[in-house]
Amino acid sequence: MKTVIANWKMNVGTRESVALGRGVLLSLRGRKVIPDTVICPPFVALGEVRKLIARSKVSLGAQNMSWEEQGSFTGEISPRMLEEAGVSHVILGHSERRNILGETDEMINKKLLTALKSGLVPILCIGEQKADRDGGKAEEVVLGQLRAALKGVHLKKKDQLFIAYEPIWAIGTGVSATPQDAVEMHSVIRSAAADLLGEANFSILYGGSVNSDNAYEFLRENEVDGVLVGGASLKLNQFTGIISAAAEVMEGLIEGGKIEK
Ligand code: PGA
Repeated sequence: MKTVIANWKMNVGTRESVALGRGVLLSLRGRKVIPDTVICPPFVALGEVRKLIARSKVSLGAQNMSWEEQGSFTGEISPRMLEEAGVSHVILGHSERRNILGETDEMINKKLLTALKSGLVPILCIGEQKADRDGGKAEEVVLGQLRAALKGVHLKKKDQLFIAYEPIWAIGTGVSATPQDAVEMHSVIRSAAADLLGEANFSILYGGSVNSDNAYEFLRENEVDGVLVGGASLKLNQFTGIISAAAEVMEGLIEGGKIEK
C-alpha cells in the first residue's frame, strides 16, 4: 500500500476546503486501485470536510492536537474533540510547529502518547535543517528527534504510526531531497524505529516539495511508503498527478504479486 497525505496548513478556509475536498474525491473516482488518502484541513473546516468524504475511502486528519485530554487550555484542541469531528489521523511535530511555534521534543512525545491512547493515528514529522545536512549531522538530528518522540511508546497490535521524514530545507522551497537521500534516511529511520518499537505497524513517508513531477520517483522506492504533501496538495491538478503516481506504483506492485489488491 502507498499512502498520500495532504496537509493544507493555514491556507484554506471552510469553503475552499470543501471545494478542494470535492476535487480530491473526483481525482479518486473510477480508479481500480487507490492509495490510502488522508486530507488534513484546518480545524474549522473539519466538520464540513467530514460530511463531504463520509462515504468515501478518504480519511480525515488534523494538523495538530493538545497533549492534554481536557481542561483550561485556551485555544487548544483535545483528542476527544478531534474524534468527535471524525478525525482519525493527526500530524504531530511538523517543523513549522517546532521552529515557529516553539514545540519541543518533549511536547511532541506527550502528544504522541496522548494520540495513541486516544486511538488516533499519529503522523510524526522529523527532519534536519540544511546546516545539519551540510555538516554531516542529518542522521544524528533525525534519530535524536525520533528517539525523543518515541520515548515510552509501545504500539499495540491495532495501533498504526506514520513517520514522515521531512528535511526542513525541502519544505515549501521547491527543492526536494533526491529519492536517494530519502531512501537512505528512510532505511536509517526504519531500523531505529524497529529497534524501538519491535514488530509494530509503522510506515515511513517522505515530505518536502513533493509534486506531480517528482512523486513517482519517490513512491516507486520500496523504502518510501507514501508522501506528505503541502503546497502541491492545494492545486488539484498537482494532487491528482500525485494520486495517479501512487496508483501506478501500486498497480505495478499488484501485478508483481508484491501486494494484494
Ligand atoms: P511542501 O510541504 O510539500 O509544501 O514542501 C510539506 C509539508 O510541510 O508537510
